[in-house]
Amino acid sequence: MTDFKRYLVTAALPYANGPVHIGHLSGCYIPADIYVRYQRARKQDIQFICGSDEHGVPITIRAMKEGVTPQEIVDKYHAFMGKSFEEMGISFDIYSRTSNKIHHETAAGFFKKLYDEGLFEEKETEQYFDEKANTFLADRYIIGTCPVCGNENAYGDQCERCGSTLSPEQLINPRSALSDAVPVKRKTKHWYFPLQNYEPWLKEWILEGHKEWKNNVYGQCKSWLDSGLQSRAMTRDSNWGVKVPLPGAEGKVLYVWFDAPIGYISATKELTDKWADYWQQSDTKLVHFIGKDNIVFHCIIFPAMLKAHGNYVLPDNVPANEFLNLEGEKISTSRNWAVWVHEYLNDFPDQQDVLRYVLCSNAPETKDNDFTWKDFQDRNNSELVSIFGNFVNRTFVLMHKLCGGKVPNLHADVADKTDENMIAEFEATKTRVENLLEQYKFRDALFEVIDLSRKGNKYMQEKEPWIVAKSLADNPEKQKLIDNCLHICLQLTANLAVLINPFLPFTAKKMLHMMKVVEKMLDWENAGKAKLLSVGYSLREPQLLFRKIEDTEVQAQISKLEANRIKPASTQSEAVKNAKPDAKGSEAKEQPVTSNQKPEIVYDDFGKIDLKVGTILSAEKVAKADKLLKLEVDLGFEKRTIVSGIALHFKPEDIVGKQVVVVTNLAPRKMKGIESNGMILMAEDKAGKLHFVSPGTKIDEGSGVS
Ligand code: MF3
Ligand code: ZN
Repeated sequence: MTDFKRYLVTAALPYANGPVHIGHLSGCYIPADIYVRYQRARKQDIQFICGSDEHGVPITIRAMKEGVTPQEIVDKYHAFMGKSFEEMGISFDIYSRTSNKIHHETAAGFFKKLYDEGLFEEKETEQYFDEKANTFLADRYIIGTCPVCGNENAYGDQCERCGSTLSPEQLINPRSALSDAVPVKRKTKHWYFPLQNYEPWLKEWILEGHKEWKNNVYGQCKSWLDSGLQSRAMTRDSNWGVKVPLPGAEGKVLYVWFDAPIGYISATKELTDKWADYWQQSDTKLVHFIGKDNIVFHCIIFPAMLKAHGNYVLPDNVPANEFLNLEGEKISTSRNWAVWVHEYLNDFPDQQDVLRYVLCSNAPETKDNDFTWKDFQDRNNSELVSIFGNFVNRTFVLMHKLCGGKVPNLHADVADKTDENMIAEFEATKTRVENLLEQYKFRDALFEVIDLSRKGNKYMQEKEPWIVAKSLADNPEKQKLIDNCLHICLQLTANLAVLINPFLPFTAKKMLHMMKVVEKMLDWENAGKAKLLSVGYSLREPQLLFRKIEDTEVQAQISKLEANRIKPASTQSEAVKNAKPDAKGSEAKEQPVTSNQKPEIVYDDFGKIDLKVGTILSAEKVAKADKLLKLEVDLGFEKRTIVSGIALHFKPEDIVGKQVVVVTNLAPRKMKGIESNGMILMAEDKAGKLHFVSPGTKIDEGSGVS
């Protein structure tokens, strides 16, 4: 084992084409953050690198659909995603982006070096081209009828209905997913990286040298290596990306999977002048945190590139997670089946640690796993609230009640075996947590911390200081027993703060405040110590660390998921939106959907709907329904009560006086006992935020809308 002097930790650069959801967090950002916070607490020299992946086909397609430039797409999402990560406490040292100049220079320079050394193969091939959209098409973007089952919306690489593997040539009536044009073949030249040349080295390095990698990672590498590597094109025909730095290569850019991982290097350059120490000194421990769909790129292709380039460190480990499902179904941005982080933070303000806790405890470390709202509630209520929070709270309440609000003494003369065993657990837990974290077993490590608080509860239950207190009058020795119990419980609380800090940093902060100690106390070396708080030191009143999550809150989340779910459609444009990466991991990923087209209707259908302009006269929250507002709306000819599900988006006082468009002939409906007589039209933006649909200027109430 090498003795490492510094750490370089990366988390996969997410595509800047949609908001962050819980699958992202659980796949790599939370485990990476836990690892980094732990190493920082150990005072290790460490950099935590991430940023937006802003190139690739999905982004250009999304831009095309929205009628904006790719730059506009990435600008918007880069900022949006960065904010979600920050609010969740993901403590990157830098969150950079691959459209930065420094990245273009670094990636182009990397390519140029390999080119100059003659490490690419130049090949001319025929590829499908869309003459209408004026672009080459990846197989996924060619759609046609499946020759096997007749599905009219099969992809050029696979039919999703019957599961057959296809090539674009096999499709009957092939058409471009972008424009409907019939694709034609065109010659094009590209630079290929001969991965097969690195196969013997990769086999040695991974299969012999990294047997300690997680089974899911090692297994995927082995199967790639066993089936033999081939040359892979490292350039594409496109105008969006890092330009190929060669004369005569106009209209060609680096393949997104060539440039993106180099983004880790560029971001480190942007972060620190000492970037070369991190990337080029062999005593750096490089760890890539990723999701399982990124394994081949981080374990095979990028290392081969680094090896070819020379002078770079290779990853010491790539602890990839499997996938997280949601309520038993695959998370899907195109079907809007996801818990979006910005929405979570809106619905559960200040509850970051609860989500961090749940996503760590059920992380898909060895196999795919499921997130359910019920499990979220259970883990919060029966673990965070009832075990960890309860222990800390009881300790503080009793210390104030029985020990005058100060850390009591530990009286050796009355200490017993139970006390000793409890204290011995501090150190033992620390060692177990450390070993687990070093092996990237975050779930088990977190379990150990919770288990220590469980032991604390048990200890207190055995000592029953509140019972001892009742009989205080007849034996002065008894105060010593109470002191010992609370002394130990307080030292245990301090230990819990140190141990929980990598996982639940917001909670650790609150605990510091209650104990009136500085952040320095969270240094990892303090874990295991039994004298963190000094005797006689006065502590603050307890502050609840966690709150119970109610059934209604969980129900609201489940209803919201169902209500916003987008049913899979079979139209051609939906097919593109649903495009998934091919089995070998092309850069195409599921695309978030912005327009959900409904089937065509005739004019009469529309004519049945009575739309009128109204003014909101008053608005108030509906009791026991956090999403509902009760509105009084003036329609000119009458005033109406309308219950509207917009409470999470607007404050009542902010919307009084607003003009809105109302569906006035909708059958009345009771909600929470209030009869609602109409519906207000709302527009929803890509981030899921609602906006009123109103006339441009103030007009008479009751005006018709058509
Ligand atoms: N954008 C890719 C994804 O979301 C991950 C890129 S990781 C990097 O799957 F190494 F290429 F940066
Ligand atoms: Zn088929």
